[in-house]
Amino acid sequence: MAYLLALDQGTSSSRSIVFDEHGHIVAMAQREFRQIYPQPGWVEHDPFEIWQSQLETAREALAKAGLAARDIRAIGITNQRETTLVWNRRTGQPIHHAIVWQDRRGEPTCARLRQQGLGEVFQRSTGLKVDAYFSATKIAWILDHVAGAREAAGRGELAFGTVDSWLLWQLTGGRVHATDVTNASRTMLFDIRQQRWDPELLGHLDVPESLLPQVLPSSHVYGETEPALFGAALPIAGIAGDQQSALFGQACFKAGLAKNTYGTGCFMLMHTGGQFQPSHNGLLTTSAAQVASPPAPQGGGLGGPQYALEGSVFIGGAVVQWLRDGLRAIQGSGEVQSLAESVPDAGGVMFVPAFTGLGAPYWDAQARGAIVGLTRGSTVAHIARAALESIAFQSAALLQAMARDAQASGGAAVTELRVDGGACVNNLLMQFQADLLGIPVVRPQVIETTALGAAYLAGLATGVWRDTDELAGHWRAERTFVPTLPREQAEERLALWDRAVRQATTT
Ligand code: G3P
Repeated sequence: MAYLLALDQGTSSSRSIVFDEHGHIVAMAQREFRQIYPQPGWVEHDPFEIWQSQLETAREALAKAGLAARDIRAIGITNQRETTLVWNRRTGQPIHHAIVWQDRRGEPTCARLRQQGLGEVFQRSTGLKVDAYFSATKIAWILDHVAGAREAAGRGELAFGTVDSWLLWQLTGGRVHATDVTNASRTMLFDIRQQRWDPELLGHLDVPESLLPQVLPSSHVYGETEPALFGAALPIAGIAGDQQSALFGQACFKAGLAKNTYGTGCFMLMHTGGQFQPSHNGLLTTSAAQVASPPAPQGGGLGGPQYALEGSVFIGGAVVQWLRDGLRAIQGSGEVQSLAESVPDAGGVMFVPAFTGLGAPYWDAQARGAIVGLTRGSTVAHIARAALESIAFQSAALLQAMARDAQASGGAAVTELRVDGGACVNNLLMQFQADLLGIPVVRPQVIETTALGAAYLAGLATGVWRDTDELAGHWRAERTFVPTLPREQAEERLALWDRAVRQATTT
């Protein structure tokens, strides 16, 4: 039996999962680590806490599985994306804390780029909107604010990396400075059509190319671990940003296949094949995991660049936390389903949880939350149901935007939505999602698809699996939610949602 070790480095915790060659989970370990908030709008992580917590969970998962390093065929890495680290190449010491994707300190630089009319230049090359979410302005901030950083960068002494590169550097004892195409595609500096760092964009942010990691396919042998770490050298053979990894773990390998991850926020990605497809409906274009370059001989290999459209919902499962901590409507998150089910519907109540503005496809940073449609008969149960439904409404808006983009470009239509993430276990929510979308919502047997994607990528590069066709054969549905609501009623609900959104937005 071949085993793979997936390292899943997320925003609030580091996890490690051992999978067997059937894609089944053998053992898992998880550690939370510190979130550092130096001032409002800023979020940082300690780079060594990221590394230590990841290493500890990897060792713990191996121990729980009763396996030694020599039993593991390869390691796959998946990670919170965009989070930015800069370290000294010689000493390996970071010159600043990691600046986390949620951190907004790059906004003034983004405003300047937009004012200079560069929004389109960035979008054409990177597929992204100019936004502080991505790594570029975080790198610029570090170079501008850490004493001597720009000079050191100019001399080629510093290395930039997203979390995958940082882990790879640590695992290989500083021998490998690389990343994969999916992580590079989130920096706002990488030309995703030509698959290279874009010299024009680097110039606009004054980022020297010597800082940047080598960009490689997602399924690729990047290097070997220092033998002392696990007792034997292990190949690191797969890397992908967590959302692209989940797309891969959901076996969404071709145009029209889409997944939605229901976490604190929601991330929806639709594979669009080998063609860069710009969005005209407020979505991002991003690189999907790439298996090999040049294309594999029998097809099915995802050789060459691969693309996806992406949209995110800022407040997904977080709305349930607000019901618990803000409204005190429930004691624990687990109670939300029974409270919501205690009423047959939301009684006309609509809840737009725009606590931090609205993301795709609305893009209104100033929008604020709204609960509308209240009557004398409304109860906390109706509000709980509306809160749960808001997760599905926001996700439906993303899928509608994807469908419009696909139609405009003659691309494949989405015929089912594959789901994962914590809240996908909520059957009421999944049924409502299917009803709104009018297509089946499919929950797989293994919902740890982010880690599974990294294991798949590593296993493909080391011969555990032949190609993506074989992996597609492994993927199994646990439950399919088939739409039952008549289409006109679904359309009515969606129209009511749009009206509620208009009441919450400022534009
Ligand atoms: O783009 C940010 C995303 O990659 C973070 O994911 O699951 O760590 O919150 P997560």
